[in-house]
Amino acid sequence: MIGSNAFRGKHILLGITGSIAAYKAADLVRRLKEHGAEVRVMMSHGATQFITPLTMQTVSGHPVSLNFFDADEEAAMGHIKLARWADWIVIAPATADCLAKLTHGHADDLISTVCLASEAPLILAPAMNNKMWSHPATQQNYQLLKQRGVEFFGPESGDQACGEQGEGRLMAVDAIVSLLLTKLQPGPLSGTQLLITAGPTYEPIDPVRFIANRSSGKMGYALAQAAVEAGANVTLISGPVALGTPDGVNRVDVETAQQMYDAVMQYLTQTIIFIGCAAVADYRPAHQAQAKLKKSTNNDLTLQLQLNPDIINTVANSDNRPELVVGFAAETDDLQQYAQQKLQQKRLDLIAANRVGDRLAFGQENNALEIFWEGGHKSLTEAPKLEIARELIKVITERYHAKNSI
Ligand code: PMT
Repeated sequence: MIGSNAFRGKHILLGITGSIAAYKAADLVRRLKEHGAEVRVMMSHGATQFITPLTMQTVSGHPVSLNFFDADEEAAMGHIKLARWADWIVIAPATADCLAKLTHGHADDLISTVCLASEAPLILAPAMNNKMWSHPATQQNYQLLKQRGVEFFGPESGDQACGEQGEGRLMAVDAIVSLLLTKLQPGPLSGTQLLITAGPTYEPIDPVRFIANRSSGKMGYALAQAAVEAGANVTLISGPVALGTPDGVNRVDVETAQQMYDAVMQYLTQTIIFIGCAAVADYRPAHQAQAKLKKSTNNDLTLQLQLNPDIINTVANSDNRPELVVGFAAETDDLQQYAQQKLQQKRLDLIAANRVGDRLAFGQENNALEIFWEGGHKSLTEAPKLEIARELIKVITERYHAKNSI
């Protein structure tokens, strides 16, 4: 990537905490400076075990802030001064300990204190062993920080320095810089909070069996990516899928329709635009067997089903209704009629209808949509899901701005 001066005048305060990935921070500083940023660095004691302050001083061109209690440093630039100086605070790599400190508001070292004292947007790029990342303690801290508006870049999946494989790698330096660059060029949805559901739900019958559908999540994930490209802050509530998280997206994994409902309700108050792309099971087994069901001599087995909550219907009729509620309709026949019925019955602002077929919709790479809103209609002909998603996000943006201009 060639330097662009895009960050000219931007003060980026980079926090480095104690992970082996700390060595990549020198490259990150160099890339940010190539784009014109002024970068100051603060390091935890752990980080200095992996990369020297002298290296960071050399690449940033400024003394590195290390200790909260260093009288000289406090005189040169105290934690309050650093906190005020920053336009953005980026912590890369951010360890599990760093996440825990920030979640609980600790102020026992320089980095946590500066974060507590600063109103600058905080971006964390976690790096840690995959078991540490997936540990419930870390995951709870991650969710809480996201709910407070902290942004996460990564982590990514792949080979780890400890020899294991999994999620927990520091996002690639190029990707971190690209995401920071997209924050500068305001897109049509800049600063808009989007909540998107994607994928299927699994409704357990017993510990090994469930009712599901053929949704792969590709359409919903493409929408999340397209919305980030348009500048939105995106939370993606995802059913079980085999897809990587698009860069810059906050992903919350769920399994059942009830869990999807609960997760959506948790994020609803801060949501401006809601898109329900998930193929939510309308029904779940009324009773979930605690032990694996055994085959009996009967030819027939009756499974009693119970209605699941209708997520989008609840969202559209809630006291915390987002400004725009967008639904999907997947139909095998009478596409337009059923889609328009759903638009009205669920009180949606817009519905994107897809015909279920051999080449389209569920599980496929391509899709085609008929989009309806009150007094309007647009057709999107067959194309890869990311292209369709970008076009749909354009229509959603137009409807959102049209609604706001009334
Ligand atoms: O995931 P892919 O393989 O890429 O496929 C994409 C897709 C075909 C799943 C997607 O484009 C799509 O059409 N999603 C909606 C599928 C669906 O379940 O439609 P529906 O007509 O049954 O539901 C209508 C709307 O109500 C949807 O917005 C759905 O998310 C919502 N709903 C349905 C039931 C329920 N209990 N709660 C809901 O919120």
